[in-house]
Amino acid sequence: MILLLILQLLTLWPVCRTDLTLTAPAASYPQPWLMAHPAAVVTPGVNVTLKCHAPQPAWRFALFRTGVVTPLLLRNVSIELAEFFLEEVTLTQTGSYHCRYSRTDWGPGVWSQSSDVLELLVADQLPRPSLVALPGPVVAPGANVSLRCAGHMPGMSFALYRVGVATPLQYVDSVQPWADFPLNGAHAPGTYNCYYHTPSAPYVLSLVSQPLVISYEGSGSSDYSQGNLIRLGLAGLILICLGIIITFDWYSSSSAFGGLLPQQNWF
Ligand SMILES: *[C@@H]1O[C@H](CO)[C@@H](O)[C@H](O)[C@H]1NC(C)=O
Ligand SMILES: *[C@@H]1O[C@H](CO)[C@@H](O)[C@H](O)[C@H]1NC(C)=O
Ligand SMILES: *[C@@H]1O[C@H](CO)[C@@H](O)[C@H](O)[C@H]1NC(C)=O
Repeated sequence: MILLLILQLLTLWPVCRTDLTLTAPAASYPQPWLMAHPAAVVTPGVNVTLKCHAPQPAWRFALFRTGVVTPLLLRNVSIELAEFFLEEVTLTQTGSYHCRYSRTDWGPGVWSQSSDVLELLVADQLPRPSLVALPGPVVAPGANVSLRCAGHMPGMSFALYRVGVATPLQYVDSVQPWADFPLNGAHAPGTYNCYYHTPSAPYVLSLVSQPLVISYEGSGSSDYSQGNLIRLGLAGLILICLGIIITFDWYSSSSAFGGLLPQQNWF
């Protein structure tokens, strides 16, 4: 009897569980959208508000962290917008969030479709970008070259610096996770680096890229000294070879001369 009751409870359990987060059909329960204010990429200590907008008046809103079944925060508001306050965020709040809403006329435990995922990134610094030259770091005089500063996130502001100059050489807002900086060939040679940051306050800055040296074809000072070394080495080799040839020649001609005389004596 008790066993039967337990079995019945066990079969009912999944029903209860799914009832908690029952998802309604997409057409009649359209998804809300989730936005972060002031931004989805912030430094620690910033007060972040996650705003869930429903396409119709709702009664209740829930904020979820991806991978966690139970709502992180709930708000009972009878309008189209709910605000979830994440006070003075820390690095551990980095993650994926989504929201749902419900209405009284949907019955208990019925939630709307989930919003698209919002990626919240709380970081002191963003990863270092790479800086490469297109088509390459050695340019023919008069040819143009483009420098590509590539980060890891879309929608950032990129700055290109010439090493030794305090102000940015060029500044670009990009929707892609990279930015291209065209350089006029006549002024291209030099050493460059770049970084990126969030497009608005509170700014989160990336580390600075490794420096990139742009030089003219055959004009690099290190190439010169290397070329000179090679030339010197070749000249030395030729001298040694000449020395060997002359010595051999001298020996062979002197031995031939020495060998000929007695032969001549024999005849
Ligand atoms: C964040 O919000 C709390 C409470 O509203 C406030 O006391 C605090 O000063 C705020 N912090 C910042 C950095 O704005
Ligand atoms: C929202 O309403 C439900 C049902 O009336 C109640 O159980 C819950 O405590 C309320 N939540 C908040 C955050 O007010
Ligand atoms: C280099 O760029 C300048 C300005 O963008 C342009 O006027 C010029 O034609 C380009 N030169 C070459 C060789 O592409």
